[in-house]
Amino acid sequence: MEVRCAVDDKAGIAPRVLFVNHSSKLGGAELILLSILEEFDEASSVWLFEEGPLRTRLEQKAVRTVLATRRSGFSEVTRNGSLLRALPFAVDILKMAGDIGAYARSHEVIYANSQKAFVCGAAAATLARRPLIWHLHDIVTPAHYGKGQLRLQRALARLASRVIVPSKAAADAFSQLCGGKRKPIIVSNGVTLAPDEMAKASRDERRRHLGLPTGFVVGVFSRLSPWKAQHILLQALKDVSDANCIVVGEALFGETRYAESLRSLAQDLGVAERVHFLGFRSDVASLMRAVDVVVHPSVDPEPFGRTLVEAMLCRTPLIATDTGAAAEILADGRAGLLVAPRNPSALVSAINEIRANPAAASSRASFGEQRALALFTEEQMRNGILRVVRDVIPPYSC
Ligand code: UDP
Ligand code: GLC
Repeated sequence: MEVRCAVDDKAGIAPRVLFVNHSSKLGGAELILLSILEEFDEASSVWLFEEGPLRTRLEQKAVRTVLATRRSGFSEVTRNGSLLRALPFAVDILKMAGDIGAYARSHEVIYANSQKAFVCGAAAATLARRPLIWHLHDIVTPAHYGKGQLRLQRALARLASRVIVPSKAAADAFSQLCGGKRKPIIVSNGVTLAPDEMAKASRDERRRHLGLPTGFVVGVFSRLSPWKAQHILLQALKDVSDANCIVVGEALFGETRYAESLRSLAQDLGVAERVHFLGFRSDVASLMRAVDVVVHPSVDPEPFGRTLVEAMLCRTPLIATDTGAAAEILADGRAGLLVAPRNPSALVSAINEIRANPAAASSRASFGEQRALALFTEEQMRNGILRVVRDVIPPYSC
């Protein structure tokens, strides 16, 4: 008699997954991919649409990468731009899907880790007859996407065997887009900080070591982008006259004009001397531990926000705008202050509140650290992802 075995019985055998990611920049979704890959072995591969630091990091980890040989034209399409801009590349996109589909035949599952990867992945999975997982790191609302893109996502969503999202906010947006018919699986992002090499140092010693200003220092840690809204913090800074600010991050996805506009805004507001643009840094946790407050001023819904959890793990007082997943991550304000988005005065009040009540700020920060250690670990994330992957692989005969 033939016995059907569950895949979980394949003890110790990691599934063969083809991960697809369009970007090779190091954004939050790519850092999550790097972490997830720890759970997979050399039988899995990563398909990238472009060269970049993600590829370098993958190669350092000895992960097999495949670089697309065709231009997909996706770089021409911004989130809320028209899909028509990709039209001249339609044939190339289809050919790329064909390439991915052919390569996927030596894998059991296709795992799309970005929106653009999902569009190609959907066609590739159909051609290769492989289950498709869509790890949706975004909030699919009109705040982030144009109408045409939302329509395309809704149409293609039915081709995904499973959709993974990092928060309830992202799940709600997806269910709303798909009319509540599709239930995504929430797997919260997991974050671990690099060991603290200056664990015994005071905040002042840390600052000296890092070359940071003295006095009260506020930090913002995100790629420079209009919806991450560093400009709101600069506007607030005008009314917190003795505070310095470090702006950590760079424009990752072509938003260089916004990055430049921040510098001129600081000049126009008369705060340029107190604002320090540090560019992209690989020592975010050290910098977070050295500032008095981390501010996360996003004006559009944040799908998750790794930087929120990083600040919590650093036990640094945190202020975030109450949009997207921030409230669920910050336990409705118990792990950090929540303020209205697009509102510099609300930010000023929150910064003043932290200065006036350092004990309350410190107790929220300790609560935040415990919360992050309990809920947002890499281990729970990797286990959650592995369960979903195993779940879509058909049972085999043994
Ligand atoms: N980050 C970094 N260096 C920088 C700015 C940001 O390493 O200069 C990291 C940050 O610590 C976080 C990630 O980039 O881990 C951003 O992820 P998040 O989910 O906060 O936002 P995303 O940019 O993906 O929307
Ligand atoms: C995206 C989101 C961010 C999330 C990250 C990882 O880049 O903007 O909120 O934390 O993906 O899921």
